[in-house]
Amino acid sequence: MGYSGSASRQHTPARQRPEHEYYYDHYDHHAQPTHPVRPAAIKLEGPYGDFRDDLVKQGYTVIKSAISPDQAKAYQQKAFDWLASFNTPLDLADPSTWKAENLPVQTKLNTFESYSVVHEKFMWDLRQEDGIIEPFSEIWGTDKLVVSFDSVNITLPNRADKPARSPWPHVDQSPLRQGLHCIQGIINLSQAGPEDGSLALYPASHALVEEYFRTQTDESSWKPEDRYYFGKEGIKWFEERGCKPIKVQADPGDLILWDSRSIHWGAEQTPKSDTIRTVVYAAYAPAALASADTLKQKKHVFEKFGATTHWPHDNMELRGLHAKLPDGQLDPRNRDRPREMPEYTDKLLRLAGVKAY
Ligand SMILES: [Fe+2]
Repeated sequence: MGYSGSASRQHTPARQRPEHEYYYDHYDHHAQPTHPVRPAAIKLEGPYGDFRDDLVKQGYTVIKSAISPDQAKAYQQKAFDWLASFNTPLDLADPSTWKAENLPVQTKLNTFESYSVVHEKFMWDLRQEDGIIEPFSEIWGTDKLVVSFDSVNITLPNRADKPARSPWPHVDQSPLRQGLHCIQGIINLSQAGPEDGSLALYPASHALVEEYFRTQTDESSWKPEDRYYFGKEGIKWFEERGCKPIKVQADPGDLILWDSRSIHWGAEQTPKSDTIRTVVYAAYAPAALASADTLKQKKHVFEKFGATTHWPHDNMELRGLHAKLPDGQLDPRNRDRPREMPEYTDKLLRLAGVKAY
């Protein structure tokens, strides 16, 4: 097993992420992709007799107790302390204070990516946990990995000022990529039971998505952006082939992994749940898959304490560096560095892609 090392050499400058891009279902046999198609970064086949078999067959898996439940609780508390560090009346024990004006600016996806939070010490401590890194090392067949600069999701249940978000089924991989390129991870710090918020996913959809793109979409519309949203018709195609959505259940300390070709979204709590969903997104890939340009951009984002996408080795979009209030003004609470700086160990700098292996 190994990876092909076929890193993209194309220059993709750091940019603000566009708002949702929707692609519509077209069908044209004669259309050709307008960008080069990229072959798989790795081929997982198995059987392995471990978690990788589920990843291959179902497109997702749950690694139990990647960190201990006690560690998960301690990390969750750090995330809560961060959330409550903006000098507002927010009280996590008092739902009447759970309002946008008492919170730092949150994305529509319930994540926090501004205020340098992505580089807070607790975020880097989590990313450096061996129990989180090891499954990715096994998948990729190397421990020379880089990690994504991704966000923390703290979803307060039953917010009076904010309706629950409807599903937004998507994959995080462009139709221009063939095969497996990215494994995404959720470090689960809260209970994710049937009524709680969690990852919603169509098992085995990763194995059908290329056929879908090939037969149901116009190839000339394929774009290099590694996100593709499905409308009702698209979802129907998968459901007609036996795919049914599930909400992935997990305990605090579990690591949820999924193939970026799996159709998924972040499901919010039902009204029956009073659990504050708390998760950190982290994905790892071989440093050798990142191009020199990508590493340069990654270093730039690292130095700015910025966030990028789910992707560790590509897509260095600089996201939400400065939070903006609903009226469009910059949030005066913006921070240009983390509240608590991590120690820049060699391990951290290598995972950040800043120091070579
Ligand atoms: Fe996603």
